[in-house]
Amino acid sequence: MQNPHSDAAAPSASTLALYREAFKKHGRSEEALLWGKNKQAVRFAALCRHIPDCPGSLLDYGCGLGDLIPWLRAHRPAMTYTGADAVGEFIASNRTAFPGHDFRLITIPGDVIGRFDHVICSGVFNLNPDRDHESHWLHVRAAVLALFAKTKISLHIDFLAHDTDFRKPSAYHQDAKELVRFVETQVSKRYCLDRTYMPYEFCISIFADLEIVRERNVYTALR
Ligand SMILES: C[S@@+](CC[C@H](N)C(=O)[O-])C[C@H]1O[C@@H](n2cnc3c(N)ncnc32)[C@H](O)[C@@H]1O
Repeated sequence: MQNPHSDAAAPSASTLALYREAFKKHGRSEEALLWGKNKQAVRFAALCRHIPDCPGSLLDYGCGLGDLIPWLRAHRPAMTYTGADAVGEFIASNRTAFPGHDFRLITIPGDVIGRFDHVICSGVFNLNPDRDHESHWLHVRAAVLALFAKTKISLHIDFLAHDTDFRKPSAYHQDAKELVRFVETQVSKRYCLDRTYMPYEFCISIFADLEIVRERNVYTALR
């Protein structure tokens, strides 16, 4: 049995098959990622809100079709991008679409060699066709811990919200309160939950630098 301190589980064969089928049918598009359309710019702006526009390294874990790259070029041009995903077809297609960028075929965070200033993880936990809610939540916790270990400065993760009036079959919706309880107690007390950009999605930003200016009791990173 998995525990949240062990490494995250790889995506199931059914999860990978859903993305592969969608890619075969729709090609390079948001439909291939099983996302609703035309929301990427809003989502990326929220995920990168706390990432400054200065030189640094960024891992896009579960990068899909690398849609974050054009957004970064426009809004964080100094960032060095690495994409990692478990679907080989996405990675192969990205290498053609975005030559010169580093793309890695992986199935768990522990497969990614190196540590990065910032880690983005957008929509990676949206599907759980084979796992019940509890075991997917266990997988999410293990993945958050493993991704945080890859982060030098900040980790930013997007989820489908739990309080929606509509759910697609096989979709995983995260209870924000449960996530916050977990992050506070097991990951870092320095975090920020953002529900301001879409009614049915939210993101959490988790920061690694906990150093405090003692005499003022403020985080050194904010000085
Ligand atoms: C909804 S798509 C989002 C893609 C991209 N992050 C974006 O925002 O456009 C989710 C992606 O996560 C990938 N994925 C799911 N589980 C994964 C895992 N354990 N390791 C790596 N990639 C995974 C899928 O292959 C898919 O490309």
